Amino acid sequence: MTLSQSIPKDTASLVEDKPVLHIWGRSPLKGHVSISGAKNSALVLMTGALLASDACILRNVPALADIGSMGQILSALGVKINFDSNTDATAGAKTLTIDASTITQTEAPYELVSQLRASFFALGPLLARTGVAKMPLPGGCAIGARPVALHVRGLQQMGADVYIEHGVVHAYAKRLKGARIYLDYPSVGATETLMMAAALAEGETILENAAQEPEVIDLANFCNAMGAKIQGAGTNSIVIEGVPRLHGVDYNIIPDRIEAGTFLMAGAITQSEITLSPVVPEHLTAVIAKLKDIGVRVVQEDHQTLRVMPGAVLRGTDIETLPYPGFPTDMQALFMALLTLCEGNSVITETVFENRLGHVPELIRMGADIRVKGNHAVICGVPFLSGAPVSGTDLRASAALVVAALAAEGQSTISGLQYLDRGYENIEAKLRGLGARIERVQPNSGSMLVEAPSLV
Ligand code: EPZ
Repeated sequence: MTLSQSIPKDTASLVEDKPVLHIWGRSPLKGHVSISGAKNSALVLMTGALLASDACILRNVPALADIGSMGQILSALGVKINFDSNTDATAGAKTLTIDASTITQTEAPYELVSQLRASFFALGPLLARTGVAKMPLPGGCAIGARPVALHVRGLQQMGADVYIEHGVVHAYAKRLKGARIYLDYPSVGATETLMMAAALAEGETILENAAQEPEVIDLANFCNAMGAKIQGAGTNSIVIEGVPRLHGVDYNIIPDRIEAGTFLMAGAITQSEITLSPVVPEHLTAVIAKLKDIGVRVVQEDHQTLRVMPGAVLRGTDIETLPYPGFPTDMQALFMALLTLCEGNSVITETVFENRLGHVPELIRMGADIRVKGNHAVICGVPFLSGAPVSGTDLRASAALVVAALAAEGQSTISGLQYLDRGYENIEAKLRGLGARIERVQPNSGSMLVEAPSLV
């Protein structure tokens, strides 16, 4: 085949008709940004509502694509869901009423589960509540294989009959029995699945080497508000005393620590002074420590507000991602974007996921100097980044490209927004509110050569 034969005749077909972000970099940011409810708490609490024999109300739920997908999955199980926007203080936040008093289906549809890994967390509560659960394997994604053996093995230790057939996990248990379960890895999802299953089991369950993330604590608080008896969430050993039933609850979700971290990066990389709230400062201890390490000033204004301010010359540092309270893997790509402009060398080691450096080639396209060897990335600081067309490969990689584009000279065009919209509520509106020059445009709408919005 000659080269000409391999090039599609209609080159327009090369440009997918999906929205992109245009960002004109180097605008200083200023002002305050409101942080939404935590995606990774909202998603697991939605599955937790399956445990209750009557309706739950979840407040401060972010308006995200993933939340909508989870709502579809719960509806497919017969759960009644009502989204009620803008009834919360935080503009755009949703109040969800989830009534799982009657569950009519015990098998979640593959086409929905395959789009949202977090839906697999429904396995535990569905099994505990109904005695039967069939959940398609979520499959891998850009950042790794995402196995679920720890979830399955833990349920088996609780007496469930669990087997995998045709890509579906089948689980049966008349009533789960409490067990002492050691997790080979402090998996967030496995900890959450087993904690929810144990809440309705007979007797006591102890989870050893449990995940300590804030979202695990939020789930334990939510379940305890429903009448569960969970102690030790936030430590590596969680003790759950099973109860016969759980009642509905009205519950407010914690702020999103990764969204907050994302805006800390945006402020730092543009050498701006901005404030963020509501946040829980201790959820960001590792991130703030590393920001101070490179010379960025971060001040806690009050119990729920952080201020980031320009530092002197920013110097590189080394980062290793670890389970909480270590440096969060979800902040790795975002911090790398910042390190590309820090003087000297930095080394990032990604220890949590096996393939979470997909953002490196895209940052290199913007002029970054990064070399990857295995799960290590060596970043040599450069004096500036230059705007370029780039594409996100996963949620946090896409956010990292937005952060880099805010500091780059000239215009960047960022595609792959289907990933970004899974985890960030109105990110361009929030950034524009801080003074960033950013537009979301639909390609082929005649606006490709969008002029930079006037400086405010
Ligand atoms: C949660 O994923 C988060 N997602 C992820 O956030 C986050 O990156 C991750 O925790 C780690 O903090 C949600 O909460 C919806 P894990 P989860 O089980 O539970 C291995 C984002 O960007 N593992 O803690 O799937 C696994 O392969 C997303 O918001 C097993 O080996 O993460 C991985 O290497 C991305 N066997 C490591 O544990 C298992 O049975 C951490 O995974 C389960 C996990």
